[in-house]
Amino acid sequence: MHPCHPLCLLLLLLALPLGSTCPEGCACRDSHTIDCRGSGLRALPTGAFPLFIRKILLSNNHIQEIPADFFMYYGDLVYLDLSNNSLSSIAQGIFSTTKLIYLDLRYNNFTQLSPRAFSSAHRLIMLRLGNNPHLGQVDQAAFQSLDLLQVLELNDNALEALSAAALSSLPSLRTVRLEGNPWLCNCTFANLFLWLRDNAELLPAGFAAIQCSLPRDMRKITLNELSDDSFIECEFSLTLTDYLIIFFSGVCVSITAITTSFFLANIVQCFQRLGLFKGGDDDDEEDDY
Ligand SMILES: *[C@@H]1O[C@H](CO)[C@@H](O)[C@H](O)[C@H]1NC(C)=O
Ligand SMILES: *[C@@H]1O[C@H](CO)[C@@H](O)[C@H](O)[C@H]1NC(C)=O
Ligand SMILES: *[C@@H]1O[C@H](CO)[C@@H](O)[C@H](O)[C@H]1NC(C)=O
Repeated sequence: MHPCHPLCLLLLLLALPLGSTCPEGCACRDSHTIDCRGSGLRALPTGAFPLFIRKILLSNNHIQEIPADFFMYYGDLVYLDLSNNSLSSIAQGIFSTTKLIYLDLRYNNFTQLSPRAFSSAHRLIMLRLGNNPHLGQVDQAAFQSLDLLQVLELNDNALEALSAAALSSLPSLRTVRLEGNPWLCNCTFANLFLWLRDNAELLPAGFAAIQCSLPRDMRKITLNELSDDSFIECEFSLTLTDYLIIFFSGVCVSITAITTSFFLANIVQCFQRLGLFKGGDDDDEEDDY
């Protein structure tokens, strides 16, 4: 039996309500972790988690959105598993003030990732975005400012194209998963291919695991069947803007050429007139001999 000091009794009473704030349907294994997997949740139970929580497991629910102020409440959160929910968008700037290191958004309902979607999630090391069957557009600035990100998963989505700049802007990247997308190996894909060829060590399963469809007949090939030469014709394919530039520079060059020759012709004529007089003198001199 420990004799309890009144102060310690007070502390016990204060601690009791804190200890009991485990949201319904969730298990609170320790003071840092809450496990709400497969609890049939349709929304995030805001205000229901202890403020100093560090790890929340919310996979296998039906959560449709992350409230804009969620990460403001849980500033110590480092690990968030929201895989297998119904999320379809990420509100701009939602990750400001977050210390998140691990974010799992696999098996959701995203269709696109907008510029700077994860901006301010500066500490993120692992971002899992695979198995979003409708995710067809990832902005080239989507992962901007994720300076510590080491693992990026974009596998098994609906991506036909992706700007190489989306990946090359990640200074700490070690692994990127791109397999299982309906990539289209047209001229736009050339940039991504060339970047991947130079950074092949980032692909865990290598080029052989990634397939793309040829634009001509939609025949599927793996990336290791491609080479620089596969895109050789892209270097010569010009856009309408290119043609316009070429046309107008042609016109400019012609005008300049015509003006210059006109000017030169005049000068020559002038010299010729002067030369005639001088030539006359010469002739006279020659005649003197
Ligand atoms: C997703 O969660 C549901 C329950 O909400 C479960 O039945 C299903 O097996 C889960 N799917 C995956 C891929 O984990
Ligand atoms: C996914 O989004 C589409 C609309 O883009 C919607 O019709 C569908 O019900 C959503 N699916 C889930 C599982 O939330
Ligand atoms: C290549 O395919 C992608 C995805 O469908 C498309 O956005 C892009 O405009 C295409 N590029 C060219 C040069 O046709």
